[in-house]
Amino acid sequence: MILVTGGAGFIGSNFILDWFKFEDEEIINIDSLTYAGNLENLSSLKDNELYRFKHGDIKDPDFIEEVLVSFNPRAIINFAAESHVDRSIQSPSEFIKTNVLGTFNLLEKTRAYWEKLSDDDKDNFRFLHISTDEVYGSLNEGDSGFSESHPYKPNSPYSASKASSDHLVRAYNKTYSLPTITTNCSNNYGPFQFLEKLIPLCINNALNEKDIPIYGDGLQIRDWLYVKDHCSAIRDVLKKGQIGNIYNIGGNSELTNIEVVKTICNILDRVCPKNSGSYKNQITYIKDRAGHDRRYAIDLSKISSELGWRPEHSFDNAIEKTIKWYVNNNDWVSRLKSGEYMNWIQSQYGNK
Ligand code: NAD
Ligand code: DAU
Repeated sequence: MILVTGGAGFIGSNFILDWFKFEDEEIINIDSLTYAGNLENLSSLKDNELYRFKHGDIKDPDFIEEVLVSFNPRAIINFAAESHVDRSIQSPSEFIKTNVLGTFNLLEKTRAYWEKLSDDDKDNFRFLHISTDEVYGSLNEGDSGFSESHPYKPNSPYSASKASSDHLVRAYNKTYSLPTITTNCSNNYGPFQFLEKLIPLCINNALNEKDIPIYGDGLQIRDWLYVKDHCSAIRDVLKKGQIGNIYNIGGNSELTNIEVVKTICNILDRVCPKNSGSYKNQITYIKDRAGHDRRYAIDLSKISSELGWRPEHSFDNAIEKTIKWYVNNNDWVSRLKSGEYMNWIQSQYGNK
């Protein structure tokens, strides 16, 4: 039995759905269902006896203790987090509470649980912490990609909170020998991503004849990874990763934001043509994000040489698949546009 936290979010729900395609081990998913948690993502598992869900918060010590004692997991994969950089700039406090204090609580309760396991179960146990490349800060053009020994230089409240959680995970391994592993991954895209992030926001705005907002000059670079590739990397790290280690995960696919958005517009022009010209006409440059990181890139040498993992999907292929998923799942998109989401969009971009 694997315990997954934050499994109703974008990556967590993709991970759970993929898990059952490859494995026959049970999963207990715990999620506090913030605005970003959506159980509809997992509705196809309603008759799957290997899947269980419990509503609760990683910050709640009694809840975590009860889940650990009742389900007796052999591994924990911690996806639960506040994940959107812009929200962390507007209201950092929830990021500190969940990403720092929540991870701390999870580690404390896991330590108490793990210490009571038999020697064999202790050896086989894993605490896998899902983190981000943003903890390393920003690269200049020409710099080599982030390796696992790159210094931490987080620039947003989000990345600082994730960096803090990574340090706590490391400390629980060094101090208490808790068998932890951390992964630091680049930007994901794919099905079920909440509409506030660049790629789904761009697709949704394009199709709804709204402005497609580009921050600053649009030349910031991200390394894009299809979410299914992230999920396969996590399964490999869980199976073969070395305790106490970090693994960086990326897509070998560095693109500027404006390149990403123009690619999406070109694909939409082909698969959903509109009468009034190209979707590119909706691109609008707006004020830059505060503290905006210029470039992220990942050095994949460690995970590929040690674990034999490489991304399987090319950006061109998987972005088209992703766009078609959003076009074909308009009901899912419509149901997401709840009051809370619209309030956020209003506060960020006004009525456009
Ligand atoms: P998301 O925002 O889509 O989902 C987060 C999930 O965590 C939601 O289901 C939410 O309800 C749940 N959650 C939040 N606070 C919680 C709490 N206190 N207790 C229990 N559940 C809680 O995020 P995502 O994009 O799926 O990211 C998942 C993880 O991967 C995060 O830790 C993030 O930092 C990391 N990550 C994301 C990306 C990316 O591109 N999205 C890249 C690298 C790493
Ligand atoms: O690098 C991994 C990180 O990637 C994860 O840790 C985060 O959880 C995830 O949200 C993502 O962070 P980014 O800030 O890179 O993603 P976002 O989709 O918000 O923005 C991608 C880039 O696009 C970034 O340079 C900001 C820019 N952008 C974003 C939005 C929402 C725009 O130009 N316009 C927009 O409207």
